[in-house]
Amino acid sequence: MRKKIALIGGGQIGQILAMLAAQKELGDIVILDVPEYANVAKGKALDLMEMAPHGNYDANIIGTSDYKDIEGADVVIVTAGKPREAGMTREDLLNVNIKIITAVANGVKHYAPKAFCIIVTNPLDAMVYVFHKITGFPKNQVVGMAGTLDTARWRAFISMELGVSVADISGTVLGGHGPDMVPLPRLTTVGGVPLTELATQEQIDRLINRTREAGTEIVKLFGKGSAFFSPAWSAIVIAESFLKDKRRILPCAALCEGEYGVNGLFIGVPCLISDKGMEKIYEIKLTEEEKAQFARTIASVSKTVAECKI
Ligand code: LAC
Repeated sequence: MRKKIALIGGGQIGQILAMLAAQKELGDIVILDVPEYANVAKGKALDLMEMAPHGNYDANIIGTSDYKDIEGADVVIVTAGKPREAGMTREDLLNVNIKIITAVANGVKHYAPKAFCIIVTNPLDAMVYVFHKITGFPKNQVVGMAGTLDTARWRAFISMELGVSVADISGTVLGGHGPDMVPLPRLTTVGGVPLTELATQEQIDRLINRTREAGTEIVKLFGKGSAFFSPAWSAIVIAESFLKDKRRILPCAALCEGEYGVNGLFIGVPCLISDKGMEKIYEIKLTEEEKAQFARTIASVSKTVAECKI
């Protein structure tokens, strides 16, 4: 039987998710949105069905506003929520998006209690925390997407700066999805060559700052709304690793219970994503300077989570 992927939110990211999931033949797809956008979701689903003959995929794709249609989903990807506008921080979205995530979590808990859930809504680390609290799902079943996106941006900027293939760049970005995130140049390589030997400290500092502000750079360009191609691809990479048991190690916001000295918070850490979901968190031995940076991102995430009234 085909797998079933439920996309909660049929906006900019949701529609790209649907297209990628279809093209990769990950399974049948449900695009769910609020009742006022149900017809838009249905229209996008139909458009994607009509793309199939040239896109060369077999998938049933439907749009809906009824949670019953996500029944039995294997994967749920949540993008529902308000995006940022220029001048806004991700935290400015907290109050409005808590309400949305609460409703989503209740729907998913009822109709797809076994699904592996990937949260994309901002402020990311707090929204995944809220989703997990409300569903009560085991921690292996819930992750936030951000580190995979932040690492993609880190790799993209290194490739642009050095004029080398992005395929050869390997690295990771830890911490919360905000300006305190922690790119790790010490552990980044380009075709096996350490980044620290290929780039000057001035270049590395510039790359770190650009990565930390990458989401904001795009929001400023758009004026309204935030990035959608790269966030969608990042969530699909996580979903695919789960659905195909690829066992990729991807930075995701996962519930830490002692790892990295963090207790009870979701924060970006390297995770093994297998058919069990978030199977394992890897703890990297950090230097004193990296630990200090990690402490700052934990403090930011804790502050936002403390403001979540649920
Ligand atoms: C970004 C949004 C999706 O970083 O948080 O682009």
